Amino acid sequence: MTLPTVPLGSFDLSDLEGFWGGPRDRREGAFKTLRDMDGLAYFEEAEFEDAPFPRGPGYWALARHDDVWAASRNPKLFCSGQGSNIGDLPQEMNEFFGSMINMDDPKHYRLRSIVSKGFTPKEIGRVEGYVHAKAARIVDRLLEKFPEGRCDFVEHVAAALPLEIICDMMGIPEEDYGKVFGWTNTILGLGDPEYATTYDELMAHSLEMFMYAQALGESRRAQPTDDITSVMMNAEVDGERLTPQEFGSFFILLVVAGNETTRNAISHGMKALTDHPDQRDLLYGDYETHARTAMDEIVRWATPVIHFRRTATEDTELSGQPIAAGQKVVLFYCSANRDERTYEDPFRFDVTRPMQPQQVGFGAGGPHFCLGANLARREMTVMFDELRRRVPTMRITGEPEYLLSSFINGIKRMECAWD
Ligand code: HEM
Repeated sequence: MTLPTVPLGSFDLSDLEGFWGGPRDRREGAFKTLRDMDGLAYFEEAEFEDAPFPRGPGYWALARHDDVWAASRNPKLFCSGQGSNIGDLPQEMNEFFGSMINMDDPKHYRLRSIVSKGFTPKEIGRVEGYVHAKAARIVDRLLEKFPEGRCDFVEHVAAALPLEIICDMMGIPEEDYGKVFGWTNTILGLGDPEYATTYDELMAHSLEMFMYAQALGESRRAQPTDDITSVMMNAEVDGERLTPQEFGSFFILLVVAGNETTRNAISHGMKALTDHPDQRDLLYGDYETHARTAMDEIVRWATPVIHFRRTATEDTELSGQPIAAGQKVVLFYCSANRDERTYEDPFRFDVTRPMQPQQVGFGAGGPHFCLGANLARREMTVMFDELRRRVPTMRITGEPEYLLSSFINGIKRMECAWD
């Protein structure tokens, strides 16, 4: 693939409409420029229109795989406690919104140890049974509801599974699924006019979700059931348990992190399989052999989470670029996953691509590596298996309508059809 030449100075990674809303190949060209340059480029920050905090000082963009890898694996030097999104929130809001993704050790370690009890192989094994049942039900509904063989893939296939799984795991009743879906859309769609456009709306929805979760946590502490909320609320690490407030914030992180990411991986995956019929034939023809590498390739290809941020704790350097204590670095997973130095022919979608060197769609390693990576892989594997067995001719027929975001590589709508 030949990328357009996009010289430094002609693009701005903080320009939501102009850069992230612009042509995708121009974006790829810009990241190639950043990967090929000496040192690192610095970008000013975008302004949150009505946010009650000032615009931050800017950030260094990490576009190469090696730089993203190095920063991610050195949390002492590149910390998360000052925020993992680009803008600076007041400290208490960092933890309210981000929970452990915005924490450093020992706080992060304590919280992750407690909530990990809900993600042990035993717990995920229990979930597995209903991942199959849910995926089968989604396809049943699809065939029943759309006998003409045409529908929106995002709403009727990709969105349903991750949402239902996470809600079920947490013990959320079915009548509340829609509510949770709406909240997560608003929180991650900030900036896209279809969802929340204002900071106030974002706050209002987050608060609703927080209160909902707090009440759920309190009820499971008093009366445990067999869901993961009960496991987490009653787990002890060094004699300490989660407070309902901590659970409230973790819940926001979990449903947001678990829903939109997996949904977008499935949507981009179906689009990639449609655009590369040889790869689809290979995967569908011998699913057992290729599913593992194919799911990893889909996550690399899609990179559903575009970036996370770290802050330098002392004067340091990356790729020869001096970075001062307190300066921000932004880890662009989307670019690291296309680094020509790391991956052979990175713009080729290849379901047999070896899993080493590791793709960084779930993070590049270190303490914050995606807690739900195994669950997400499972969900994707089961969903594509169900589709290939029951609707093998399903393909994307419409242009994807992309989410306007510099954080989530989202598809809002995309028509599919089958014979
Ligand atoms: C394809 C789907 C997914 C993708 C691409 C994805 C991606 C990511 C990324 C990039 C990070 C940050 C890693 C880092 O900073 O090192 C992360 C963290 C996290 N993810 Fe995922 N994720 C996915 C699915 C899930 C699911 C299904 C869940 C839970 C049900 C989940 C829960 C979390 C949590 C709790 C964290 C924070 C971990 C921490 O701070 O210690 N994710 N994910």
